[in-house]
Amino acid sequence: MAKPSLYASARAPGKLILAGEHFVVLGSPAVSMAINLYAFATAQATAEAELKVEANILLATLGDAERKSRPDTKELLEPFRLAARESLDSLGRKRKGVSVEIECQIPIGAGLGSSAATAVAIIAATSRAYGATMDKSRICQIAFGPESYLHGSPSGVDHATSTYGGLIQFSKPDKVTKVRVKRMPSLLVCDTNVHRSTKGLVRSVVKGAKADSEAYRSRVGEVSEISKAVLRALRRSDDVELGELMNRNHELLVEIGVSHPMLDKLVMAARKAGALGAKMTGAGGGGCMIALCEDEQMTSRIGSALRKLGGSPYLVSIDPTGVVSSTNSTVLK
Ligand code: PMV
Repeated sequence: MAKPSLYASARAPGKLILAGEHFVVLGSPAVSMAINLYAFATAQATAEAELKVEANILLATLGDAERKSRPDTKELLEPFRLAARESLDSLGRKRKGVSVEIECQIPIGAGLGSSAATAVAIIAATSRAYGATMDKSRICQIAFGPESYLHGSPSGVDHATSTYGGLIQFSKPDKVTKVRVKRMPSLLVCDTNVHRSTKGLVRSVVKGAKADSEAYRSRVGEVSEISKAVLRALRRSDDVELGELMNRNHELLVEIGVSHPMLDKLVMAARKAGALGAKMTGAGGGGCMIALCEDEQMTSRIGSALRKLGGSPYLVSIDPTGVVSSTNSTVLK
């Protein structure tokens, strides 16, 4: 068995969903992109079978109101302890422990995949601390446990995007196709600053799909076509087509009740300010929206329109690599 190293560190990216959120849980493919906002984990192998997970930054990013409505710190960290435990089990180190510290640049509960990225970084760092380099498919498999703990019935798109990086098409249970494009679209992300739980939103959609299966079947079919068309538009660098597809995808998400008045307000304002397309991204109910911009001038015009309405816009770019790890204390920042 490989010798445990003292420290290891890993970094895993957050994500944006360009098409197919929620419907991916019901069977449509989704198109997502890893972004240059990261979760970091440092891990130290310990001789006792003890798990220690610390995450000061993660908790500090929660506002007072959210902190009240959320479970206590212990509960909040449970999925991350699970990520560390399942990594050790998978390495055949059931009797060993690990001490993990996490930091997260990705806003929490904002639809950008903060929990999946944190779990993926913990898994990669823990295995490196024990002298192993897990392959990406195994990291992804292990990350499903903590994501299920948090989200109930996740599709897997968040942790697949964080693990593999770049632009991917994802279908349940674990089909990942890396997509290569000549030019990445210019996307402005805007946070509504209303944060919420993915679990409740996913549960409500699954419940709705059971109650009204006919209507949902047709929407799942339409979103599947949208996802395929989004890939074609990306490959052709056809931003006009991509924008129209994003708009239609947003309408379908509104129909199933996962948007939020603030999201709709920002989406409308972005389109009015010239965006080629705009939609919510991730689970909705608040969180973030994305706007497709033609050039820098348009980006700054849309950014100031969204800021005036109370949104927090920021520019992101693609993360091409996904999770990376190192066998020393460099936290890869
Ligand atoms: O947790 P979020 O907001 O990043 O969104 C996850 C994407 C969903 O499609 C809503 C759920 C899933 O597991 O696919």
